[in-house]
Amino acid sequence: MTRIGILTSGGDCPGLNAVIRGAVLKGRTVYDQEFVGFLDGWRGLVEGDAIPLDRSKVRGLSHQGGTILGTSRFGPYQGPDGGAQNIARTLERMGVDAVIAIGGEGTAAASKRLFEEGIRIVGVPKTIDNDLGRTDYTFGFDTAVEIATEAIDRLRTTGNSHKRCMVLEVMGREAGWIALHSGTAGGAHAILIPEQPESIEQICEWVTSVRDRGRAPMVVVAEGFTLPDMAEAYSDKGRDEFDRPRLGGIADVLAPMIEERTGIQTRATILGYIQRGGVPTAFDRVLATRLGMAVTDLVADEEWGHMVALHGTDIVRVGFDEALANHKRVPKDRYEEMRIIFG
Ligand code: F6P
Repeated sequence: MTRIGILTSGGDCPGLNAVIRGAVLKGRTVYDQEFVGFLDGWRGLVEGDAIPLDRSKVRGLSHQGGTILGTSRFGPYQGPDGGAQNIARTLERMGVDAVIAIGGEGTAAASKRLFEEGIRIVGVPKTIDNDLGRTDYTFGFDTAVEIATEAIDRLRTTGNSHKRCMVLEVMGREAGWIALHSGTAGGAHAILIPEQPESIEQICEWVTSVRDRGRAPMVVVAEGFTLPDMAEAYSDKGRDEFDRPRLGGIADVLAPMIEERTGIQTRATILGYIQRGGVPTAFDRVLATRLGMAVTDLVADEEWGHMVALHGTDIVRVGFDEALANHKRVPKDRYEEMRIIFG
C-alpha cells in the first residue's frame, strides 16, 4: 500500500476536482494506493494539514468547479516549516510516501526543486492560460475559452444596438491563448496578446474600418498585452511590481484611447474570475479525469520528477525540467494567420 498526498496549488481551475476523482478512483482500484488531500495547496503539506480521500469523498466530483481541497499561492519553501527537509519529516510523520502536485508553472518549478532535494513528487499540469510547456492543452483552458466566447456573443448585441466599440479583457498574463481562441471563435475584429506588439494607431485603424462598414467593432485583449510605450513603463519597474490594481485592466486603458482617437463610443469589460469559475466543459472533464488516472501510474512506476501531459490524444510523461524549459507562447505564425482578417 502506497500512501499518497494530493494538493492543488495556484489559481483555481475548472477540472481540478475531476483530476482528484480520477486519481483516487484508479489508484484505489488498480494499485491499492491510499490518498489524503493536503488543504490549501502547499500550506497543507508544509503544516501537515490533510483530510482522508476515499472513494465516497470523490464520487460525483467530475462536474464540480473549484477544488474541494482549497488552493493558495503559498509556496513550499515559505514559513518556518517550509523547505524539503522539513517537508520530508512532515511526510514521514504522516506516513505519506509520495506527493501529487496539481498546478501551473510555479507549482512545477517548486515541485522540481523538491524532487531534486529528495521528495518523491509527481505532477499534473493545470492552468486556464494554457501556457505550460510540453503539453498540448491544459484542462480549464477549454472552459475559459467557452465562457469568453459567450461573453463576446453577448457584448456584440450591446455593441450593435448602441453602435459602440466593445473591448473585452480576458486572462493571460504571459500568453494570449484564451484571447486568440475566444477572439477567433467569437469573430473579434482585433485580438491583442502579450506575445505580439500592436500600436494604438493600428488598433484604431481596425476599429474605424469596422465602423465604416456599419458594424460594431469588437476588440479582445489579453490582460498581459501592453502598448509599446506602456511596455517601457513595465520594464522600468519590473512587471510583477507594477501596481496593476491601481492601473486597472488593460481594457480600461485602451477603451478611452480608442474613443478619443476614433470618436466611436467605446466600452470596456473585464471578464476576470468569471472565466475560471463554474462547471468545466466536457472536454476539460475528460482531460482532467485522464490526467488524474494517469498520474497514479507515475507513482506506481516511481517516476518522480515527472508530470503527465497531453500529446495529441495520448497522455504521456514529461520531466518537470523539460516542461519548465519550454514556455508555451502563441507563436508569431499562429497570430499572423488570424491577423490577416482583423478589421
Ligand atoms: O492562472 C493564471 C491566471 O489565470 C492569470 O491569467 C491571472 O493573472 C491570474 O490567474 C490571476 O489569479 P489570482 O488573482 O488568483 O492570482
